[in-house]
Amino acid sequence: MRQKIVAGNWKMHKTLEESQALITEIRGLVRDEYRGQGKVVIAPTFLSLPSAVRLVEGTEISISAQNAHYEDHGAFTGEISVPMLKSIGVQYAIIGHSERRQYFGETNTVLAAKAKSVIRHGLTVMFCVGETLEQRESKQYFRVIEEQVSQGLFGLDRKEFSHVVIAYEPVWAIGTGLTASPEQAQEIHAYIRKLVAAQYTAEIADQTSILYGGSVKPENATSIFMQPDIDGGLIGGAALKARDFIDIVKAMR
Ligand code: 13P
Repeated sequence: MRQKIVAGNWKMHKTLEESQALITEIRGLVRDEYRGQGKVVIAPTFLSLPSAVRLVEGTEISISAQNAHYEDHGAFTGEISVPMLKSIGVQYAIIGHSERRQYFGETNTVLAAKAKSVIRHGLTVMFCVGETLEQRESKQYFRVIEEQVSQGLFGLDRKEFSHVVIAYEPVWAIGTGLTASPEQAQEIHAYIRKLVAAQYTAEIADQTSILYGGSVKPENATSIFMQPDIDGGLIGGAALKARDFIDIVKAMR
């Protein structure tokens, strides 16, 4: 069985104190209310990572970074490397979020190097792909997804690929309140799984967790997570409210 995951991407929200309070609240709710087998991941800002790791110690929750540089060290002002993340106990890194692609010009080539570094150091990558509204409307989305997946990830060998989680996040559904319908999301998830099967093996594709992201809320999580190729979610806005987040976690069965 492939791993189910619900991950909260906090983006650029929460001061250190606020994030400690929210993690403490989520930790309590997960302990008291979640009995499932799925994985819960929280991705606060870099600044809050060390304390986040300490706060979830001994729980089922893992901590993720939202980005990482592809070099281990060097003259890259303002950047954080994967060995640095690893040294404080971070286990996942989100790579290729559409906001990184869109606002920081991250290309598939750069993202491939980042994904490789994350895996080389023994962390799991949550690699994001997704089309814009224009690409959806002009029916280019299969091509765009194929390019992002193959250029970003298919340089990895089979063993490396076992540390990949893919997140399908249609850009038009992020923070807009618009959600892909469960059928629209399922169609892309099945397509991504087919690409992985063709590049690696059907068995590897079957083991790969593919998350959906884009306006997931407690009200729509169950119908999205019920789809056969959807293995959980990457949650933005709703991950900033402990009650909403735990209700989404509980929709993962
Ligand atoms: P929203 O859930 O706020 O739409 O954000 C999704 C997202 O970008 C998660 O990475």
